[in-house]
Amino acid sequence: MIDIHMHVIPGVDDGSQSVEESLEMLREAYRQGTDTIIATPHSFAFSLSPALPRKRFELLKEKAHEAGIPVHLFFGAEILCEPYSMNVNLERLRSGIYPTMNGTEYVLIEFSPHIPEDDAVYCTRLVRDNGYIPVIAHAERYRFMNIRAARVLRSLGALIQINVYSVFLEKKDWIKENARSLLQEKLADFAGSDAHGTSHRPPQEASGIQYMYKHYDTDYIDRVLHENAALLVHPRSQ
Ligand SMILES: [Fe+2]
Repeated sequence: MIDIHMHVIPGVDDGSQSVEESLEMLREAYRQGTDTIIATPHSFAFSLSPALPRKRFELLKEKAHEAGIPVHLFFGAEILCEPYSMNVNLERLRSGIYPTMNGTEYVLIEFSPHIPEDDAVYCTRLVRDNGYIPVIAHAERYRFMNIRAARVLRSLGALIQINVYSVFLEKKDWIKENARSLLQEKLADFAGSDAHGTSHRPPQEASGIQYMYKHYDTDYIDRVLHENAALLVHPRSQ
């Protein structure tokens, strides 16, 4: 699997808090079936200190290499979008303070869980109109989300990322149902762990991956789990 959404950079957001924790997350991700990760700190990490996430990312890459962990790491961000913050977001994207996904035109955006659909559409359209391809982070987790809303966002040129653990959550049935419907209707494009650490949302993809291959079209799941994401990591990989 290529994981396009992970809070694995140490000490920059509410994800990993140390290099050791990051290395353990990478080891666990690899055990679960992930060999390529785009590290995506929350946008507030760049607001606090614009250069720090990249610096810590490079450090983590070096440490992972030294530790012999065979996971390919790329750099990105998860940008929180609200209508009132879009001017700042777009300015920071343009000036390079907020990175796109591995330097491509793809931008991972998230909303607050209760955002009205109209606001999500407004933000998504602005991202698109500024020359980027919006990727909606953990689309199944928004209250407004359903098949119709996903189709509206996709018709604007957005792509959809779901969290792998959502497909087998024990509670939060509506999130699980959303994730499963998006897969059933082939509306999801990418998968992520959204892992935040070794205890809070640790990488646990194996069960989700198994579930997806068991219940949905194999070729489609291949695309969701790695083929689509290969476009984000291969063009610029060094
Ligand atoms: Fe996230």
